Amino acid sequence: MRPTLTDAQTLDDQDTLADFKAHFALPDGMLYLDGNSLGAQPNAAREALDATRDQWRDSLIGGWNQGWFDAPERLGNLLAPLIGASEGEVLVSDTITLNLFKLLGYITESQERARPIILSEGGNFPADGYIAEGFCHSAGFEHGVLPEGAALEEHLSDQVAVVVLSQVNYRTGQLRDMAEVNRRIHAKGAEVIWDLAHSAGALAVDLAGSGARYAVGCTYKYLNGGPGAPGFVYVRSDRQQAGWQPLSGWHGHAKPFAFDADYAPASGMTRFRTGTHSALAYAPLEASLKLWQQVDMAALRAKSLALTDLFRACLADLFEAHGIEDITPAPAQRGSQVGLVQREHGYAIVQALIKRGVIGDYREPGLMRFGFTPLYLSHADVWHAAEQFREVVESGEYRDPRFQTRTEVT
Ligand SMILES: Cc1ncc(COP(=O)(O)O)c(C=O)c1O
Repeated sequence: MRPTLTDAQTLDDQDTLADFKAHFALPDGMLYLDGNSLGAQPNAAREALDATRDQWRDSLIGGWNQGWFDAPERLGNLLAPLIGASEGEVLVSDTITLNLFKLLGYITESQERARPIILSEGGNFPADGYIAEGFCHSAGFEHGVLPEGAALEEHLSDQVAVVVLSQVNYRTGQLRDMAEVNRRIHAKGAEVIWDLAHSAGALAVDLAGSGARYAVGCTYKYLNGGPGAPGFVYVRSDRQQAGWQPLSGWHGHAKPFAFDADYAPASGMTRFRTGTHSALAYAPLEASLKLWQQVDMAALRAKSLALTDLFRACLADLFEAHGIEDITPAPAQRGSQVGLVQREHGYAIVQALIKRGVIGDYREPGLMRFGFTPLYLSHADVWHAAEQFREVVESGEYRDPRFQTRTEVT
């Protein structure tokens, strides 16, 4: 039976996270299913940004001693409990792209470069593969690709130094068993760098409990840090004193204001800093992370699964007749997104939905991707979004020529 609006409202009445919605600014009439690309704006983020703008005006250079300089470590400690890390294990800095490069250099140096291969996964967000390739090119390693769906063991050997894997796949929403993968890769003497782009803030990541040693992630998606908000890097405490990371910038120096001629890495996570960071970009993220401290991650996960299941249940009867394939993984292997594939019209359907204020996104080939963010989506929102989807598909509205033109960012 297709869920009714009353069913959705009943779920909202029981929702322990419902009050968080009031902390976000969302345009009237918009149903936002794209928080897996760019999270919504917390009200406190806007206030923090205003305050930092005023601080810049009033304190000028003094701002660096009023919280700007130590923001990477301070925000790292706010983020740590959300991903199962401890204080001093997370640094908020740079981007996934740069942090991945730093970790590849750091890990392979500590392995004394004894293993020549870096593996990245086919089907992952390409940035990770590009960086693995670029690192191999510049540092003299060999780049290998783990094909999508291939058995890990077939590609692991005593030649593999590091494997770069996403915990949740950006296209399919497939969630990996982090503990199991860590166990298998570590047993071969290799290391894993986890990309948490689609899991941090989407579910309860358990880095410590799963035995993870290295991870990177971003904060502009589920963590609502704002467009281009800084990324993060995690190194387990017992792996933090190994040596250099290759982007040996002055902020990662043991004494940046001694202006020594030679580089000496700072202790702990500070060595993963590079150069001057944007104080303005840290302000909204800090406000958002403070809000996140109040979130029960088990409730978040339960609601995420309920929202994704509700959306699918509202639409299931449409799929066959309209050539739509639901590729959403089963709950235990699901991130916080729904993937529907319509090879011919997927792009146009998403454009028609956007015109109606239902924001999802599109990834080649044919994938309509919908992200579900439990902090600011209600079950009723999801029900209404599904109704809009139904109308667009049943009416054939997506066939209109204006929905066929490709924009630069999809
Ligand atoms: C899984 C994944 N990895 C890496 C990136 C690239 O991140 P950044 O551009 O912040 O370096 C993204 C961006 O969306 C992503 O989704």
